[in-house]
Amino acid sequence: MAPQPTRDDRFSFGLWTVGWPARDPFGDATRPPLDPVESVQRLAELGAYGVTFHDDDLVPFGTPAKERDRLIARFRSALDETGVVVPMMTTNLFTHPVFKDGAFTSNDRGIRRFALRKVLRNIDLAAELGASTYVFWGGREGAEVDAAKDVRAALDRYREGIDLLAAYVKEQGYGLRFAIEPKPNEPRGDILLPTVGHALAFIAELEHADIVGVNPEVGHEQMAGLNYTAGIAQALWAGKLFHIDLNGQRGIKYDQDLVFGHGDLLNAFSTVDLLEHGAPGGGPVYDGPRHFDYKPLRTEDVEGVWTSAAANMRTYLVLKERAAAFRADPEVVEAMAASGVADLATPTLRPGETLEDLRADRSAFEDFDADKAGERGWGYVRLAQLAVDHLTGAR
Ligand code: GCO
Ligand code: MN
Ligand code: MN
Repeated sequence: MAPQPTRDDRFSFGLWTVGWPARDPFGDATRPPLDPVESVQRLAELGAYGVTFHDDDLVPFGTPAKERDRLIARFRSALDETGVVVPMMTTNLFTHPVFKDGAFTSNDRGIRRFALRKVLRNIDLAAELGASTYVFWGGREGAEVDAAKDVRAALDRYREGIDLLAAYVKEQGYGLRFAIEPKPNEPRGDILLPTVGHALAFIAELEHADIVGVNPEVGHEQMAGLNYTAGIAQALWAGKLFHIDLNGQRGIKYDQDLVFGHGDLLNAFSTVDLLEHGAPGGGPVYDGPRHFDYKPLRTEDVEGVWTSAAANMRTYLVLKERAAAFRADPEVVEAMAASGVADLATPTLRPGETLEDLRADRSAFEDFDADKAGERGWGYVRLAQLAVDHLTGAR
């Protein structure tokens, strides 16, 4: 029986994902523009619970105020009729030529001020629509030419921008949290805050770090050759996994934004396992939306768009079933115990033991048989194959 998505699964999609008309640097659009209202209706029918969007996805850049109100009201009615919610919103700070050298980190101060105002206006809308997360993806915050950008000054301006906006959210009592989305490159040659690790280090320098976390995207970490599951595990450990962008990517190349699982499937399996089961020894878990940020392939027609939207949710639910079976399999439990996976949760010093005690403990060093300890086989390949067997349905 194929699992069917329901609201309880908390699947959400960006309007810009299904709505992508498939224009790329080499070719024209292959699909007609999609009305955001239709996207809401179709996603609701497919079992999604939420939609997310950039300001300009709903209200094109430069739309006069009255028309903006009309577009928002129309969208709100679609939300009310379908029960679809808006868990996350974000700002387009990358399409218009004004942002070609960045928004918060443009070398032009006037552009930086304009960017802040654009975000402020949309944060008000996010609060009105009940969003709880506001994403910052700084696609144009970066450079191609090392001499063109003072990275330290750029980070000062980035921090200034995020702190100002966070202070505004607190002042207004909006209850929104910010999530910074790392990406190594594309559209800029090098983007600031390229990985989860860079973003976490940046957040630690903020005045309002308490309401700022990360929104890691599968493909973006994999574009840098990194392990997505390990990246979000560190974000969870830091208490900073505020949102996630699920999709697929096949290795170190341009940002593919494939359907979730249509890239590194084993890593998708461990991601779902982590999201659903947490760390083996307990620890913080992620309870936010399962958000898909993918692009329907340019080869697909309009029907193919909805097939691909459904495919994301199906992959997630299939992997969720497989991960549950993996965890429940007595042989997996035994293999994990043999590999000592849960033992890592035991602190290295005994309760009450001091550094002085450790230094006096001859069994820890002078009498420790390192050669003997080095003989241990860890059995990780067996664990890997058990995961593959469950993933492929061989078990
Ligand atoms: C990408 C990014 C973007 C951002 C989105 C939110 O594929 O490069 O994922 O899609 O997530 O613009 O601001
Ligand atoms: Mn992407
Ligand atoms: Mn994304």
